[in-house]
Amino acid sequence: MKRIWLTGASSGIGAALAEELLSAGHRLALSARSVEPLHALAERYGEQVLVVPGDLTDAKQVHTIGQHIEQAWGALDCVILNAGTCEYVEVSQFEAAMIERVVSANLFSASRCIEVALPLLRKGQRPHLVGVGSSVTYLPLPRSEAYGASKAALRYLLQSLRVDLAGEGIDVSLVSPGFVDTPLTQKNDFPMPMRWPVQRAARYIAERLDKRPHEIAFPTPFIAVLKLLGSLPSRLQLAIGRRLARNEETP
Ligand SMILES: NC(=O)c1ccc[n+]([C@@H]2O[C@H](COP(=O)([O-])OP(=O)(O)OC[C@H]3O[C@@H](n4cnc5c(N)ncnc54)[C@H](OP(=O)(O)O)[C@@H]3O)[C@@H](O)[C@H]2O)c1
Repeated sequence: MKRIWLTGASSGIGAALAEELLSAGHRLALSARSVEPLHALAERYGEQVLVVPGDLTDAKQVHTIGQHIEQAWGALDCVILNAGTCEYVEVSQFEAAMIERVVSANLFSASRCIEVALPLLRKGQRPHLVGVGSSVTYLPLPRSEAYGASKAALRYLLQSLRVDLAGEGIDVSLVSPGFVDTPLTQKNDFPMPMRWPVQRAARYIAERLDKRPHEIAFPTPFIAVLKLLGSLPSRLQLAIGRRLARNEETP
């Protein structure tokens, strides 16, 4: 059974993935800012759960989490960097601070976690680093400047780390979900084709983690369409993006 650090475990994909991995018998260190959902899992799964709450945009809190895991377990076999947020850009009021906020939550938080996780992974069994990106990275979508930039950067960070960590035997996987029904997407007021229930998404991810693929992307038809559109000439991508933006204006 693995020792896994899972971030963003208080809600959505992270909470559902925690259930999957705990039912499979793994030990989980669970992070998020909201502690109640983490304690609820600890009550149900007892010593399998280590509650390590904190704000991952705060480097000190991330280091405290790392120390806590080291004292309790001494090592990690897997890290799943799932915590994230989404805000949409209003281009008429373009706000650099918002881009920084989203990039901090989605990219810099991940790199802070990687900094504290790597020494623990190096002491673990068959170490595996996993990051939750997004299918948004296949195609530039309207109002997704901040979210898309953060996830595209996360994709590159993980793909590059895969190269550099291969020599040490640390595998790196990227998870690229399409739309999943979570509190994050329940705020969206535009059509979300092929949106999956969160338990289905969590099971899909959990079932594939053991094989350590480079990427776990779903739903397959949705990803195929995005990849196809993303391979079109940029003037066609622009036309598609503008059409999608118009659709968003008329829900
Ligand atoms: N839902 C989708 O359709 C979809 C699609 C593609 C990718 N994703 C990605 O999947 C991941 C999970 O998203 P979700 O849909 O499950 O969203 P969610 O329900 O809003 O969950 C986000 C999780 O991240 C945690 N989190 C956010 N900011 C944090 C911070 N500063 N410090 C610590 N924890 C933080 C939240 O916990 P607290 O608020 O308690 O801190 C929560 O547990 C995200 O990376 C998201 O970008 C989602």
